Amino acid sequence: MKQFLKILSLVVVVMMACSLLIQSAEAQCKYQHEKKIIMGFSQIGAESAWRAANTDSIKAEAEKRKDCFELKFSDAQQKQENQIKAIRSFIAQGVDVIAFSPVVESGWEPVLQEAKKAGIPVILSDRAVDVQDESLWVTFMGSDFVEEGRRSAKWLVENYEKVKREDKSMDEVNIVELVGTVGSAPANDRYEGFREVLKDYPNFKILATQSADFTRAGGKQVMEAFLKAHGDKIDVVYGHNDDSALGAIQAIEEAGFKPGKDIIIVSIDAVRGAFEAMVEGKLNCTVECSPLLGPQMFDAAEDLMQGKKIPRRIVTQEGVFPMEVAEEVLPTRKY
Ligand code: AHR
Repeated sequence: MKQFLKILSLVVVVMMACSLLIQSAEAQCKYQHEKKIIMGFSQIGAESAWRAANTDSIKAEAEKRKDCFELKFSDAQQKQENQIKAIRSFIAQGVDVIAFSPVVESGWEPVLQEAKKAGIPVILSDRAVDVQDESLWVTFMGSDFVEEGRRSAKWLVENYEKVKREDKSMDEVNIVELVGTVGSAPANDRYEGFREVLKDYPNFKILATQSADFTRAGGKQVMEAFLKAHGDKIDVVYGHNDDSALGAIQAIEEAGFKPGKDIIIVSIDAVRGAFEAMVEGKLNCTVECSPLLGPQMFDAAEDLMQGKKIPRRIVTQEGVFPMEVAEEVLPTRKY
């Protein structure tokens, strides 16, 4: 019995040591830093499943690198003024690096000048800013939103004939568009990219376009209004994000139509909810926009603190997922 207990406690000690080793391997920072890097991050809010996954990615990475980072996370609740306040507070606290995902493109020059004056480098994560002085930020990582708009339109023009209801005509395809947050980079760029492709297909017409603010509630509300105004004239919904399309699906069902059949739906993000809707035959295609930006954001901050040169633009590689592949791909989705 004594011998058995001895072996058992040895096994437990070995297992604990292994688990500690695994944890510390996971928690490794890129370099050894003399002191912790203090990063201030201003998040837009929690408008969509995408945004929640983006926040999780950033917080999880901060936790993994807690030996060399202290993250000051601030939620702006969708307001630019709150982001500006947060950035000013990071400057006042003397953080080492500021990162943020700007809710809209314009209006950042003064506060970013203040960060520059204080010698604090700024990382743009997910969305770009529109500033004259390009030295106000060091790197911008995230998706190519114009390309996402193009991909949505390409999928539509190449597949509409195949997926449409048999009695629907190809002579005039009427699209309604659920735009993202007004003035935001993804809304501006997805609007532009979609039209860039459609201009060569005059039978594809944009019947109505309105902001749904990247939210489910917005998507439902705007779609209700579109249905009231245009009814069964609507052939296609183009959602600037999956959440707004999922809200629109609800409105379409409540109006007695079949989403994915009577009305074809294409949207952007590729969140799990979109895959679930595709498995149920209610959404036709989702164009990927990855929110998993945490690891590269912290890598960039570590490189900066080491005085390393980092790329000005880091573009996320992404795919397009039509309904046919949804069942197979869904179990592999990370967000
Ligand atoms: O900036 C990325 C966009 O913001 C996502 O497509 C949308 O879902 C989010 O709210």
